[in-house]
Amino acid sequence: MSKDILSAKADFPLLNKRVNDHPLVYLDNAATTQKPQVVIDALVDYYTNLNANIHRGNHSLAVQATEAYEAARRKVTAYINAEHNHEVIFTRGTTESVNLLAYTFGEKFVQPGDEIIVSQLEHHSNYVPWNLMCRRRGANFRTLPFNERGEIDLELFKSMLNEKTRLVAVNQVSNSLGTVNPVGEIIRLAHAFDVPVLVDAAQSVQHLAHDVRALDADFYVFSSHKMYGPMGIGVLYGKEKWLEALPPFMSGGEMIDIVTPEKVTFNVLPFKFEAGTPNVAEAIGLGAAIDYLGQFDPLELQKHEEDLLAYGLKLLADIPDMIIYGAPSQRSSILPFNIRGIQHYDMGVLLDTMGIAVRTGQHCTQPIMDALHVSGTVRASIALYNNRTDMDKLAYGVQRAVKMLKR
Ligand code: ALA
Repeated sequence: MSKDILSAKADFPLLNKRVNDHPLVYLDNAATTQKPQVVIDALVDYYTNLNANIHRGNHSLAVQATEAYEAARRKVTAYINAEHNHEVIFTRGTTESVNLLAYTFGEKFVQPGDEIIVSQLEHHSNYVPWNLMCRRRGANFRTLPFNERGEIDLELFKSMLNEKTRLVAVNQVSNSLGTVNPVGEIIRLAHAFDVPVLVDAAQSVQHLAHDVRALDADFYVFSSHKMYGPMGIGVLYGKEKWLEALPPFMSGGEMIDIVTPEKVTFNVLPFKFEAGTPNVAEAIGLGAAIDYLGQFDPLELQKHEEDLLAYGLKLLADIPDMIIYGAPSQRSSILPFNIRGIQHYDMGVLLDTMGIAVRTGQHCTQPIMDALHVSGTVRASIALYNNRTDMDKLAYGVQRAVKMLKR
């Protein structure tokens, strides 16, 4: 029997904290989620009982630590339904995964005059690396705009694809608007031109179905810390054929095969892309987070979050002078708003005095803020441990803040 989602809050010690003399209402989950005790325990256990460098020693601790690290990789493989363990590369997080790809893909496959398509709904971490790579390679950086509902126009996307397109980069869920993008359809259309697609799953892997083979994604990236795991570890999934074809990114220990002054050859996948001592404890912690998530029924989890989002958005919409940004046909986990005449920053500060944690500002998405003609928004974002009481407190807090600020 799967675990009751409403019991999850008790598994996260930090959620019992009081902040500014109020019980914490944590609604900044798109920035980072809290960690269940089992993940914290996995980190402590590693440094208490197992710590050794991996892939480099034959003493017992080194062997056990290596096995624990590789077991974590197998958990990721199963979690995203990759075909091979060696298609899962551990990185520091989504940002490093995209940078790895922008450098290596650019070096190998992008020539002057080629084109990269990036949606205007991207976080800077899936926008700037491609923009800089295009400048380095003399390629054209093309952006796919979104409409007033906060949705990508697929007809426009179709018209942008051509024989010069080398790659498409798009998120599955926008961190600013919560739009669920039609990545399956985008992949299908791009593949008709033999163009690979990078899916930024940083805001989706913890909320929606996560099957890279069903999606037919060429690359799929995400961070552990947004899915209840530790910071400092993340994943680059790539189809074997692409990862084999790409040159290494970082160089040094582990990623090599033969090293002489005349010649350096490279290790096999996944080690070709894992130079240096990796974040072993954090990888094991990510494995613990995957085990934790595995206790829930994924469909129930998604339904719980969808119900909560709809409930919260409805409460907010009833507040006078409320602006809720975007109206996508499918939205996940994000409540983006402002109150007319009130600065997002001021709203965030007042909510914090009531123990309510939200993020305010541009959310690392200046192109979205520019399109919306705002300097920033207030963003509440939900996770599996949130409940209707959290949404009630948010709506009540916003109303109280409005009274104070408009007095
Ligand atoms: N990417 C994270 C966010 O959207 C930090 O808040």
